[in-house]
Amino acid sequence: MSQDDLKRLAAKAALEYFEGGVIGVGTGSTVNHFIDFLAGVKGKIEGAVSSSEASTKLLKSHNIPVLDLNATAELDLYVDGADESNHQLHLVKGGGGALTREKIIAGASKTFVCIADGSKLVDTLGSFPLPVEVIPMARSHVARQLVKLDGTPIWRENFVTDNGNLILDVHNLQIEDPIKLEQQINNITGVVTNGLFALRPADVLLLGTEEGVKTVK
Ligand code: A5P
Repeated sequence: MSQDDLKRLAAKAALEYFEGGVIGVGTGSTVNHFIDFLAGVKGKIEGAVSSSEASTKLLKSHNIPVLDLNATAELDLYVDGADESNHQLHLVKGGGGALTREKIIAGASKTFVCIADGSKLVDTLGSFPLPVEVIPMARSHVARQLVKLDGTPIWRENFVTDNGNLILDVHNLQIEDPIKLEQQINNITGVVTNGLFALRPADVLLLGTEEGVKTVK
């Protein structure tokens, strides 16, 4: 099976967690499969809260109503992908640059189901460069602070987030304490948020593998 087939497998399995009503929807190629599956159970959906303009576009193409998070109560379920997960379900996210809205919706949801192909499960986070969303005028200042945390920040050029900000991708990190690093980076003035999802990890990880879907809790 291709990596994309494995992503589709995980996305399909996440449907079982959806009992109807309003659902939070992440961003990325795995979530795109999930949105396509959601279209098949449209009768159960009151609406979706979307984490990016890209997901909004796909949801709307399936005639799934997109709701403002401010107009909904706490969500029962959020489904999103990840760039890396450790065994505690701490994640690195933001490869697609949608990390801030993703983190907001994850925080506003009772259950966060993460969907990914099996290659995303790692022992230690950090091989995938950690995305950090920054206010444009703070880019160099934040980059200098990230170097002090032993990272190598690289500006994702020609990319602007849906919030009008920039992304620094931090290379060469071995993230032994994801909760501590998430807090340290978020404390740098000018950082909007970073792609570590450790303070609010996933609750369930569904991994598409050659042997079928593996569930990690
Ligand atoms: C988007 O900003 C990311 O957080 C995605 O969830 C993550 O990059 C996973 O993407 P894929 O599903 O495309 O691997």
